[in-house]
Amino acid sequence: MKLILLGPPGAGKGTQADILSQKLDIPTISTGNILRAAVKEGTEIGLKAKSFMDAGQLVPDEVIIGIVAERLQKPDCNRGFILDGVPRTLAQAEAMEQSGIQFDAVISLEVSDEEIVGRMSGRRACTACGATYHVVAAPSRTEGVCDKCGAELVQRADDKPETVLSRLKVYHSETAPLVQFYQERGILKPVANQPTIEATTAEVLKALGM
Ligand code: AP5
Repeated sequence: MKLILLGPPGAGKGTQADILSQKLDIPTISTGNILRAAVKEGTEIGLKAKSFMDAGQLVPDEVIIGIVAERLQKPDCNRGFILDGVPRTLAQAEAMEQSGIQFDAVISLEVSDEEIVGRMSGRRACTACGATYHVVAAPSRTEGVCDKCGAELVQRADDKPETVLSRLKVYHSETAPLVQFYQERGILKPVANQPTIEATTAEVLKALGM
C-alpha cells in the first residue's frame, strides 16, 4: 500500500500516519521529522532547512525531492509506505509521478483554519523521538514527559501563533492545489474533520475500504 496523507499543518497527518503505520506494518516517511532531525544534528541539509522552517516557509523542492528519493531506496519501503507532509507542492508531486511511483490513495484531511490554530497551541512534541501529543485530545500519562521514551515534551518552535498563520497561508497557496491534482487522478479520498483522533482513524479506514 502506497499512501499520501495530505492536509493543512496540524490537521493530524502525523497522528494518523503513526496509527496506520502500525496497522499496516509499513513505514511512515515524514519530511517534517526528517528535517527536524537534520536541524538537530546540524547536517548540511539541516542548516539549509532551518531558516525556512522557523519562518513557516517551505524548504526548497530540490532538497525535499532528494530526501524522499533517498529514503524510498531503503528496503523497509519495499512493501509500501505512508508519506506524511510530502508532496506539498505541484513540483514535488510531479517529480514523484515522473519517478514512476503509483499511489493507491491520497487521504485528504479537511480541517478549518480556526480548528488548526486551536490544535497547534495544544500540541506537544518529544525532544528525543518526535512523538506528538495534545494537552487535551491526546495527553501524555505524565505532564511534560514522553510516554514512549521518557524525554521532555515541548511546544514546537513553529507552533507559535504567528508562524502557524504563515504556514496556513503557504498551505493554501502551495499545497491546496494538490487536492485537484490527485482528484483528477481518481485517488483522492477526502476525510471531513472529526472531533477526536479515534473518530478520524475510523473515517480514514472507511475511506481506504478497511
Ligand atoms: P511538518 O512537520 O510536515 O508540519 P505540517 O505539515 O505543518 O504538519 P504538522 O506536523 O504541523 O501537523 P500534522 O498534520 O502532522 O498534525 P499532528 O498529527 O501533529 O513540516 C514542518 C516544516 O518542515 C514545514 O513548515 C516546512 O518548512 C518543512 N517541510 C516539511 N515537509 C516539507 C515539504 N514536503 N516541502 C517543503 N517543506 C517541507 O496533529 C496536530 C495536533 O492535533 C496534535 O497535538 C494532535 O494530538 C492533535 N490532533 C490530531 N488529530 C486530532 C483530532 N481529530 N481531534 C483533536 N486533536 C487532534
